[in-house]
Amino acid sequence: MRLKNKHWAKPLIAANPERLTEDTFPFVRKHQGEAHLEIGMGKGDFIVGKAQLHPDIYFYGIERATTVFAFALKKVLEQACENVHLLLGDFGKFSLTMEPASFSVIYLNFSDPWPKLRHHKRRLTAEGNLDRITRLLKHGGHLIMKTDNLDLFEFTLKKLALFPYDIISIDRPYHVLDKGDIETEYERYFRERNEPIYRVIGVKQ
Ligand SMILES: C[S@@+](CC[C@H](N)C(=O)[O-])C[C@H]1O[C@@H](n2cnc3c(N)ncnc32)[C@H](O)[C@@H]1O
Repeated sequence: MRLKNKHWAKPLIAANPERLTEDTFPFVRKHQGEAHLEIGMGKGDFIVGKAQLHPDIYFYGIERATTVFAFALKKVLEQACENVHLLLGDFGKFSLTMEPASFSVIYLNFSDPWPKLRHHKRRLTAEGNLDRITRLLKHGGHLIMKTDNLDLFEFTLKKLALFPYDIISIDRPYHVLDKGDIETEYERYFRERNEPIYRVIGVKQ
């Protein structure tokens, strides 16, 4: 997701160092107990909604686009979500300083599809990233992926088969939002246009 620069974005980020970490710094764990991670959180509707539903769980959201990140930060501050910490930068870079088995759920919501074959290795579910994601999940932890892109979805199913996951749910398409699930900004766009959404849930063995 790319947005035009907003004059307030960088000052807002600079004014809230306790609510976020940039990938020029190592990841430092903020939570005790259960934690979930969303990679590519966009403008933050999902993470804020989840954090409000589960005040007992700590949520981390990673986003590398600065202006998009600032929209999410604004929501976190407006909603006074004390159980959210935002990570500004690239997942690959953050993953280097994150402890293995840190998260019980990792969410990939409408990840960039990188449609050209030569760019497939950049996908968050390409083998390199899936290896990093799998390392960060606890045993028995869930990887939940939603997308509108069928090619990315089928690619993800094939890649997941190379890693130690039990696939417990495949929704092709994912019609009605489950109780407890939260619509993302992209998801709202596609649902309003009656475009299909796909979802897979894997459990790390
Ligand atoms: C298509 S948008 C979807 C945003 C949101 N999850 C939603 O569903 O509305 C994908 C987002 O993931 C971010 N992203 C993609 N790869 C990333 C990476 N390696 N590290 C951090 N953010 C990433 C992009 O900047 C973009 O904002």
